[in-house]
Amino acid sequence: MSAGTEIPLVERVSELRDAVEAARAQGGSVGLVPTMGYLHEGHQSLVTRSAAENDLTVVSIFVNPLQFAEGEDYGTYPRDLERDRKMCAAAGAGLVFAPSADDMYPQTPITSVTVKGLNAVLEGRVRPTHFDGVATVVAKLFAMLGPGRAYFGEKDYQQLAIIRRMTADLSLPVEVVGCPTFRESDGLAMSSRNVYLTAEERPAATVLWRSLQTGRDAVVQGSRSPDEVEAVMAAVLAAEPKASPDYAAVVDAATLDRPDVLDGELRLLVAARVGRARLIDNLGVDCARL
Ligand code: PAF
Repeated sequence: MSAGTEIPLVERVSELRDAVEAARAQGGSVGLVPTMGYLHEGHQSLVTRSAAENDLTVVSIFVNPLQFAEGEDYGTYPRDLERDRKMCAAAGAGLVFAPSADDMYPQTPITSVTVKGLNAVLEGRVRPTHFDGVATVVAKLFAMLGPGRAYFGEKDYQQLAIIRRMTADLSLPVEVVGCPTFRESDGLAMSSRNVYLTAEERPAATVLWRSLQTGRDAVVQGSRSPDEVEAVMAAVLAAEPKASPDYAAVVDAATLDRPDVLDGELRLLVAARVGRARLIDNLGVDCARL
């Protein structure tokens, strides 16, 4: 373990196990905040929540090659470990775990976690191998640390649904805690990939939030037709010349199935490319509360 001025940094799995075991031996609870680094206030809110609910909060920082396909931004994904460590310390974390790819995957894995069905819709259509990579690395992190709780942002809503389902199906003894999306003042969801946006593209990136609000308004005003709600969301995306939309969808919040008639707890989800940045966002609507 190298003791930085801000927060202890652990780079090897064996050292991580020792550090976490020491905390647990004293009866301490352990919270995990899995990240790929280049942290923002949204990540910090997860750390703050974990620090309030656990004796030791570990933030993992690992850009996971398994969840990037050929041609995606694995090589250029933004990285700044020193800045991340300071942000983790400021938010109350006790330890940063930042393994190398060789330490995380000492041999090419031939075992993979697939959450069937949930991995094939929405983001899974555009990124068919992505969620197997996510589920596999999260399962490994759970195995390495044995956290009592793990914290994920609702910004990656499908990821959260997949991790919840994996945890339930594999009876993993972890409470998966979903936390609200953090937004800039103009509604853009915070994301490490927002750094790819140029000054000219940045205002256009709010189109995702505008599309979601328009979809929500349609449901609030009484539309119960998924076609109708998706069409109004898609129209907002299409009207932004700097955006190339991938999808605008309304699904059941728990199953991610597309209902025939809108009812119960729904999730509106959109994805679009703006310049180099591929952006996703989502919003919940509970028909029972309207
Ligand atoms: O959301 C992320 O940053 C990543 O997908 C995660 C959960 C850390 C797995 O690599």
